[in-house]
Amino acid sequence: MRALNMHIRAVLLTESDMNEIHFSLNGAMRQVSSLGPVVTLLDHLRLAERLTATKEGCAEGDCGACTVAIGQLDEDGQIAFRAVNSCLMLTHELDGKLVVTTEALAKAPSLHQVQELMVERHASQCGFCTPGFVMSLFAYEQSPATRPALHEMLAGNLCRCTGYRPIIDAAHDIAARPQSLLPAHWAASVAALPDACINAAAPADLDELDRALHNTPSAKLLAGGTDLGVAIAKYGADPGPLISLRNLAALREVKLSEDALMIGAAASYSTLLPFLERLFPAFAAMVRRIGSLQIRNVASMGGNLCNASPIGDSAPCLIALDAILTLRSIHGVREVQAGDFFAGYRKTILREGEYLWRIRIPLLAPAQSFHTYKLAKRYEQDISTVSAAFRLTRDNDRLIDVRAAFGGMAATPVRARAIEAALVGGRHEPAALLSAIDEDFTPLSDFRGSADYRRQASCGILQKLLAQQEQSLSVEDVWQL
Ligand SMILES: Cc1cc2nc3c(=O)[nH]c(=O)nc-3n(C[C@H](O)[C@H](O)[C@H](O)COP(=O)(O)OP(=O)(O)OC[C@H]3O[C@@H](n4cnc5c(N)ncnc54)[C@H](O)[C@@H]3O)c2cc1C
Ligand code: FES
Ligand code: FES
Repeated sequence: MRALNMHIRAVLLTESDMNEIHFSLNGAMRQVSSLGPVVTLLDHLRLAERLTATKEGCAEGDCGACTVAIGQLDEDGQIAFRAVNSCLMLTHELDGKLVVTTEALAKAPSLHQVQELMVERHASQCGFCTPGFVMSLFAYEQSPATRPALHEMLAGNLCRCTGYRPIIDAAHDIAARPQSLLPAHWAASVAALPDACINAAAPADLDELDRALHNTPSAKLLAGGTDLGVAIAKYGADPGPLISLRNLAALREVKLSEDALMIGAAASYSTLLPFLERLFPAFAAMVRRIGSLQIRNVASMGGNLCNASPIGDSAPCLIALDAILTLRSIHGVREVQAGDFFAGYRKTILREGEYLWRIRIPLLAPAQSFHTYKLAKRYEQDISTVSAAFRLTRDNDRLIDVRAAFGGMAATPVRARAIEAALVGGRHEPAALLSAIDEDFTPLSDFRGSADYRRQASCGILQKLLAQQEQSLSVEDVWQL
């Protein structure tokens, strides 16, 4: 484990912004001041609190050994929990929240139901992964769950001894049983927390954010922190000044109008998914393959776009759906097409002091359908080698318009105009598709795949799309292949 002070660098906007934060740790109030702005929750738990059940396996959000449950009071005064990777979460993001680690579960008053069922099913194997599994199950236990949903929930927890079957059995039992009561003082401890700490580094409304970014244009916005967190926790990077979006409800709003879905840039994927399931099931299928539940519980679509990775999975979907991005700064707002947002490898067109406010996705017309594909080395928890999204418009059986966009084929996610023309023009034989691919892209070779693999894989995706159309297969049929 790295020394705590490795992370302590003066990166908040000013020293006076180092306000204290208040949170509840396993039901006990915590007030922390002099906390370095880039101290991860995992380091804080293990090194400052000496709560060592929570482990560091990978420090990059992949293994789940560091999973803890974060709780917030919902509108009914009940605590709603979500599992997060404490290795990526910065401690000051906890302000106003409840953190639960496995240490607290065993105390209440004997083993917690999740722990009991893990024992009954012989699901507890090594001490390194088990606490993370227990916390994922704990945070999930209140929802009824199907077996595929349980698999999805546990995809962010790796077990190197491959003892998944008893763990999944335990998860099944836990989902089938009535929920256990939580200690009453947990809810009381959250209710007693002061209002979330507001300061220049965590603005409360968009005007404040405009000013903060105008005054410190070099500052980075911290949304879910899953990209920034890897840079900090894994590579010890100094991100420079940070402005947290945690108090900005306006950036997390998701609204449906008559003709569009409007998504606040900082809304988490878990918040978005119910909307996407209903309106764009294929987009939801793509989002379900972004990271793990722990990642999707905090990560945002805005962060995915602004990180500008060529293999960011939401960009091809947004480009193919003709989404409009609203950019905002102290000088006003402007709108751009999602396809015009990327300026080059890991570069966007955002100007100094400007940020992504919201994403507007036009709803599909009755004659339109939407399809997505992601090829990665693993099904779960893996970055795309190639991804693609298509919006098809038909006049009866005739394809009259196609919007196609790819990830992993160029320095940025990009629209594929030659491919669109080939699809509309009926040039569907493999040689014609490959020629369109060559016109659109000159892919790179890297450890995920060679340039030729990417070419052939893209051709395979196009053939699968066409086969799907001919056989009227549903999106789900393709995803289960
Ligand atoms: C284990 C793991 C698996 C992952 N798997 C996938 C995957 O399968 N597919 C995929 O696409 N990604 C994946 N990611 C990457 C990451 O989770 C996504 O890119 C995520 O959507 C980033 O969102 P965030 O809110 O966490 O961004 P943050 O880390 O908070 O921010 C990312 C960048 O965007 C900037 N930013 C954030 N919001 C704004 C805004 N509103 N305006 C301007 N700038 C902003 C930040 O300053 C930062 O530079 C994975 C990450 C991890 C750790
Ligand atoms: S330490 Fe592996 S996910 Fe956090
Ligand atoms: S439980 Fe740790 S390796 Fe399987």
